[in-house]
Amino acid sequence: SIKKVSGRQIFDSRGTPTVEATVELQNGLTACASVPSGASTGQYEACELRDGGKEYQGKGVEKAVSNINGKINSALQGKCIFGQQELDQTMIALDGTDNKSRLGANAILAVSLACAKAGAKASNMEFYRYLGGMDGVTLPVPMMNILNGGAHASNNVDIQEFMIRPVGAQSFREAMKIGTEVYHQLKKVLHSKGLSTTVGDEGGFAPDLEDDEQALQLLVEAIEGAGYQPGKEVNIAIDAAASEWFQNGKYFFPKKKKELTREELISYFERFCEKYPVVSIEDPLGEEDFPGFTEITRQIGNKVQIVGDDLFVTNPKRLQKGIEQQSANAILIKPNQIGSLSETMLSIRLAQQNGYQTIISHRSGETEDTSIADISVALNAGQIKTGAPARTDRVCKYNRLLKIEQLLGDAAVYPSSRSR
Ligand code: PGA
Ligand code: ZN
Repeated sequence: SIKKVSGRQIFDSRGTPTVEATVELQNGLTACASVPSGASTGQYEACELRDGGKEYQGKGVEKAVSNINGKINSALQGKCIFGQQELDQTMIALDGTDNKSRLGANAILAVSLACAKAGAKASNMEFYRYLGGMDGVTLPVPMMNILNGGAHASNNVDIQEFMIRPVGAQSFREAMKIGTEVYHQLKKVLHSKGLSTTVGDEGGFAPDLEDDEQALQLLVEAIEGAGYQPGKEVNIAIDAAASEWFQNGKYFFPKKKKELTREELISYFERFCEKYPVVSIEDPLGEEDFPGFTEITRQIGNKVQIVGDDLFVTNPKRLQKGIEQQSANAILIKPNQIGSLSETMLSIRLAQQNGYQTIISHRSGETEDTSIADISVALNAGQIKTGAPARTDRVCKYNRLLKIEQLLGDAAVYPSSRSR
């Protein structure tokens, strides 16, 4: 059972304060977890509690930390470490708000994950095994964000993420080989064209480009240059993060100063999918635009994965609405959007039961915590999005997956297009 729960302020990959929690058990075992933080956050996400004021530009998390050391510690002391649902429910009830604004979703999630890790340790099990039992065997297809724009880079590209998906690989290990080769090839291509090879928040390159379409051309060139077939062995996913563009009923690209209606924006993406091997679009429309999502899903959802991130915010209630309105066919899963492990798992299962694809995701501000790697395998999510295959805040998740694949041995499954 739990002896003590404590919190500390640490820093994320952008140098912004974030929360780490430690759980100590009666038998002396301890486990730690830390939480990430987004830049293009959805309006309906659970509350990330920040101190305000002058220090750390208002972004300190000492209030969240003291909630862990005080109220949460008192509520969880003595409780059984294996009752994850009950531990999470206790914190949710103690918070008492819809969006976890009293204790902070950052405080609750850090403790929730630390408890689960402590439970795994106490059971002498790998974390993915503890979460998923013997069922968790599927390594995710990595969606590697190798060209950054939007709120994650100070270049002139409005689309936030251009990702590669190594679907022709036979294993996760081979997917990493392909992904890193294409990443390095892209660097060469950019360099040869006199374009910048500095990187954005998620480790992808962030050059200034003529238009967003040029990013797709560069990715195709890099895939081919690395010796792979675009659309066959490696395909492309984008995250428009279009909530960032929504203004007075229209979509305004802040960097290129271009304004489009919903219908024009849908056609814009449809053209991308016809001309390039783009097979997945995340947040093509704004977080309020359920009808727009339904329209684009109706038009191209039979061949393209339409992913709700800011639209669903990992919230079972918003996902349920999307299922009813056929607004998408996939959901991005970010544990800190909802604020506890149990609710995260609930959203994944609800999606899976309704035929939605699931993509487990990092945030643009990350820590060395690799929980999402284990969650992705435990629940057979099928896909993970955790940045470029560069920078330790991103690569630590990929490295954990390499380890899990090895631990699984012959039982490991990689969803390869070749085996389909
Ligand atoms: P964020 O971006 O972590 O900055 O919100 C990630 C995403 O939009 O998928
Ligand atoms: Zn997104």
